[in-house]
Amino acid sequence: MTVQSLSRRRSKRSAYEDRLHTLSVASVEQHFDAFKDIAWDDPDFAIGLDDPRWVLPAVDPVGRTSWYQSLPREEQIRVGLYRQANVVKVGLQFEQILISGLMNYAFRLPNGTAEFRYSTHEATEETHHTQMFQEFVNRSGMDVPGGSRFFRAIGPILPLAARLAPLAFFIGVLAGEEPIDHVQKSMLRADGVEHPLLQRIMQIHIAEEARHIGFAHEYVSQHAPKLNWLERHLIALATPVIMRWLCDEILKPSKRAPRNMGMPDEVFKELFWDAPESRVMLRDLFGDVRMLMESAGLMTFSSRRVWRALKIDGKASRYRSEPAPKAA
Ligand SMILES: [Fe+2]
Ligand SMILES: [Fe+2]
Repeated sequence: MTVQSLSRRRSKRSAYEDRLHTLSVASVEQHFDAFKDIAWDDPDFAIGLDDPRWVLPAVDPVGRTSWYQSLPREEQIRVGLYRQANVVKVGLQFEQILISGLMNYAFRLPNGTAEFRYSTHEATEETHHTQMFQEFVNRSGMDVPGGSRFFRAIGPILPLAARLAPLAFFIGVLAGEEPIDHVQKSMLRADGVEHPLLQRIMQIHIAEEARHIGFAHEYVSQHAPKLNWLERHLIALATPVIMRWLCDEILKPSKRAPRNMGMPDEVFKELFWDAPESRVMLRDLFGDVRMLMESAGLMTFSSRRVWRALKIDGKASRYRSEPAPKAA
């Protein structure tokens, strides 16, 4: 691209580029530093196994089981802290994959694209999130594994998708970010997070994730119409599979986690996802993604059946972050 055409491109931004620019400016104006914006050493932020604020709320799937509720108080605290630390650990593993993927994606972008700046803002923010999440895990004293062995094994390969199939990669980004965001918002809305350290971490995360999710929505809406017939149908079919798989990785404790929590197998099975409340939660997690897929032309006759078979079908949200009719 010549100097003239590059500067012409800068002066004639499309509506899509304008929206990415707005997200980039917002990242400059409001961002958080893991070690400046959290008072880790505030005595009220200390983590202790005698602190009842770690008892899981009923809004958490584990917290609402009769198994959990019948545990002695000190065990509820230990399991509660373990559960929170493990969810945070999977979140940070997912973010490490995301950061690598964003670098792979940005590496091949030509000069003058709006995506370069925003994707690097996002990577910067995700790096702070991984620091914030790891610090929380370290201070919890819980040696949590995070995702399943399979997820951890293929983690280093997944970022290649950003280079080979960026649209599928950004759909994968949503598959990780939407469930985490939905769960964190539901917990805060239901006053389910009592410990101020976890509250602060979730507030920071929700504030920045809104932009990341916004970018992934923009990206998919912008690029899906350019797919050919075969690509569109393949991506439409792959989307619910990616959604369900990554959602399970993030929300469902890996094999070692229930063992460490002392959770009986039948409770685990009922919880993920046989119990009626869990089924509702699973469907509610993806209302925004279903909305996006409908508008991007990625909800096809056959893909709808896959959404249903994987038990993540349901109404599409009318707008982003619309609260589910039943609290998850
Ligand atoms: Fe994040
Ligand atoms: Fe994010």
